[in-house]
Amino acid sequence: MQDAAGRTPLLVKIAPDLPDDEIAAIAQMAVETGLSGIIVTNTTISRDGLITDPTVVEAAGEGGLSGAPLKARALEVLRLVRATVPAAFTVIAVGGVETAQDVRERLDAGADLVQGYTAFLYRGPFWARQINRGLLALTAGAARA
Ligand SMILES: Cc1cc2nc3c(=O)[nH]c(=O)nc-3n(C[C@H](O)[C@H](O)[C@H](O)COP(=O)(O)O)c2cc1C
Repeated sequence: MQDAAGRTPLLVKIAPDLPDDEIAAIAQMAVETGLSGIIVTNTTISRDGLITDPTVVEAAGEGGLSGAPLKARALEVLRLVRATVPAAFTVIAVGGVETAQDVRERLDAGADLVQGYTAFLYRGPFWARQINRGLLALTAGAARA
């Protein structure tokens, strides 16, 4: 597959709704077929655990959910993928990342790069700066402890 893309890096993005064994199989396949990396995760079709009134959720219709409802599963999938692929294989973390603590957690779970989509939309152009400053504060706090 990567051969067909020439020098353009080709990565596969995983749905969080797949069972763990299928996620591990996809991760293995990505390595075996020579892809450049994996992105975990895409949006979820699950509506479990939402605090919004179910009638409002239903009225919104089908489609992928992003942001906070995705956070725990995206982290879980990241840990699963990281445990499946070689250490040098690129893994990009995305899904429910809102705070510097979230970014720290993804990095600690083995992400090579962390992406934000929904939080950027809601928090605006200074969000990335807040995250970077928050990460510095977390690092300084850890160094003092
Ligand atoms: C409106 C919208 C459009 C999206 N379009 C794409 C897309 O074209 N390709 C893609 O790989 N992911 C797409 N995504 C998924 C995001 O890149 C991201 O994986 C997902 O939203 C989880 O991250 P978040 O919780 O930070 O939003 C889209 C998400 C949203 C909300």
